[in-house]
Amino acid sequence: MKREYAYFEGRIVPIEEAKISIKTNSFHYGTAVFEGIRAYWSEEENQLFILAGLEHYERLLKNARAMFMKLPHTAEELLEITKELLRKSGVKEDIYIRPIVYFKDLKLTPKLVGYTPEIAIYLYPFGAYLDPEKGIRAKVSSWIRNDDNAIPSRYKIAGAYVNSALAKTEALLAGYDEAIMLNANGYVAEGSGENIFVVRGGTVVTPGLNEHILEGITRNLVIRILREDLGVEVVERPVARSELYVADEVFMTGTAAEVTPIVEIDDRPIGDGKVGPITKRVQEVFFRAVRGKVEKYRDLLTPVY
Ligand SMILES: Cc1ncc(COP(=O)(O)O)c(C=O)c1O
Repeated sequence: MKREYAYFEGRIVPIEEAKISIKTNSFHYGTAVFEGIRAYWSEEENQLFILAGLEHYERLLKNARAMFMKLPHTAEELLEITKELLRKSGVKEDIYIRPIVYFKDLKLTPKLVGYTPEIAIYLYPFGAYLDPEKGIRAKVSSWIRNDDNAIPSRYKIAGAYVNSALAKTEALLAGYDEAIMLNANGYVAEGSGENIFVVRGGTVVTPGLNEHILEGITRNLVIRILREDLGVEVVERPVARSELYVADEVFMTGTAAEVTPIVEIDDRPIGDGKVGPITKRVQEVFFRAVRGKVEKYRDLLTPVY
């Protein structure tokens, strides 16, 4: 990045100017909604590709609407602003894009009506979040995933990440890399920032969208890769904790986590304790697709330059 800019209060400004007051309403109550988007640099094409930019902005606008945050922008406009921000910052490397919608009012009362929503977008140089090559060790958390009827886990609400932070911290302090949270019904929900897939006898199972999880965009792409490119059956159904320990393979997906294998859960090796063959094949397609090397997935990519 040549120089760091942000989109703030309707303008692209140097990052130092993108500041909010400590009185900002959403800072107190966690009522912001946000996105995480990756853009991948292609050396071959001398091009930066935003992955699933429209899908991310559509999710953001829907989540915002559910939180009574009406923005004047369309998803297409937000994607255009993002391209401009990336160009102005001279980004020619892999980068993470963080749009966030918040109530900017300097008022106290935890509510969603009568306030003014604002959107900010900033950039964050970001390599691998977990370890997609060696895989990670995970721990089933003692913290349950927040219930969709308490704080909607379906939306990317800032305050919901207290739940993620508690689970991730517990896992890290116990010497693991990531947490797997169960929902209030005792079934597997997701990681602190990832959806989860379990391979059992050649079939891939993953918690359905009513299991108190985020509707992951990487999850959708990976389901497509499994079904269309690998010809593997994918079943969305409740997944029991005990299934994790007898799985052949387990992996996580997310914008940050990309496709990350889990090689050990609660001190039990998964399969033979190494990255499994289906996970590897998904990764192969995924990592080529995000850099524009798979023709059928190029329509998910927005070139910046
Ligand atoms: C709790 C949670 N689940 C799943 C995901 C994966 O979602 P996506 O693939 O849309 O990034 C994320 C990350 O955004 C997340 O925070």
